[in-house]
Amino acid sequence: MKICVLPGDGIGVEITAQAVRVLEALGLSFEIEHALLGGCAVDATGDPYPEATQKLAQAADAVLLGAVGGPKWDGLPREQRPERGLLGIRKQLGLFANLRPAVLYPELSNASTLKPEVVSGLDILIVRELTGDIYFGQPRGIELRSIDGVQQRYGYNTMHYDEGEIRRIGRVAFEAARKRGKRLCSVDKMNVLETTQLWRDVMNELAPEYPEVALTHMLVDNCAMQLVRAPKQFDVIVTGNMFGDILSDEASMLTGSIGMLPSASLDANNKGLYEPSHGSAPDIAGKDLANPLATILSAAMMLRYTFALEEAAQRVETAVKKVLAQGYRTSDIYEPGTQKLGTREMGEAVLKNL
Ligand code: NAD
Ligand code: IPM
Ligand code: MN
Repeated sequence: MKICVLPGDGIGVEITAQAVRVLEALGLSFEIEHALLGGCAVDATGDPYPEATQKLAQAADAVLLGAVGGPKWDGLPREQRPERGLLGIRKQLGLFANLRPAVLYPELSNASTLKPEVVSGLDILIVRELTGDIYFGQPRGIELRSIDGVQQRYGYNTMHYDEGEIRRIGRVAFEAARKRGKRLCSVDKMNVLETTQLWRDVMNELAPEYPEVALTHMLVDNCAMQLVRAPKQFDVIVTGNMFGDILSDEASMLTGSIGMLPSASLDANNKGLYEPSHGSAPDIAGKDLANPLATILSAAMMLRYTFALEEAAQRVETAVKKVLAQGYRTSDIYEPGTQKLGTREMGEAVLKNL
């Protein structure tokens, strides 16, 4: 069971350290190796996804990732940006299925900015397509063009999906819905964008193969609104790369904090990359303030999806529940009457409850 750990930048370093402690404490025979991805890799090698990292990641069964990016690297040419490293590893490993579960732990029903009755009992799974869409579409660029007789800078991207890409993420979502609440909402912008008309058509074509799943469709702007109006109407949401990026950050606040939202990015054979849904949080990096629970819960997803160690996954998830029940909180989920812990202390609290 080979795990490649890529702490990345900012709080990535602090939060992966806690998740690794948890994995090690399980007493299973993991082979864990660390490598560079993102800004730290640019600093060391000039490449956000260096070859040494590529080799380790390709040889590993699973990758545990912190987060990449930060203001230090924002001025770099696009191909050297830390985020390119992340997109590169997702694409190279074929990790097209990004699962982002937004679950509200009952102890955190007051931590959400929404009313407790709106979010209590919330359990949504966002299935985000991760290797296509406008994120990877060619052509793309910023260049000088003569427009209306005036030399101007011109920026452009290309949004596209082929039906094969849509069908394979659709199947992942239908399968997930079949194992849960049996409701699947496909989110698109078919009233404006052809790509997402195709998305809707393909989802409809798949539906007869999954008669036990109720498929509905929603336009993405309405979905953004419905997620804060009445989030419990959703069971599984399936959507494209860009809409999924935005909607999953929105959904994270239903759980109290973005520091609570884990994710799994899977290929067709359950090889996976596991990372919190949030970023490198430069505003709190290096201060022992970050919530490590999203990363620890991502490690639990790794145990479940890549290693099929359901019992170990539940051990970790139960430990997280206990820590919350004991009243321990990092600052992002703190409320009066609970006890504030730093990143490292939170990791320790989870360890004690394993
Ligand atoms: P961010 O998710 O890093 O931070 C947004 C806000 O949420 C900040 O106030 C931050 O302090 C807070 N936050 C995030 N994670 C937290 C945690 N675990 N505990 C407590 N608070 C937390 O988003 P951003 O500020 O837009 O992006 C910062 C950098 O991270 C950018 O360079 C961006 O490209 C990168 N990024 C990387 C990933 C990734 O590696 N998967 C994801 C998103 C953003
Ligand atoms: C995420 C991040 C990434 C994305 C960025 C950093 C490339 O926001 O994992 O949600 O947009 O996919
Ligand atoms: Mn994002």
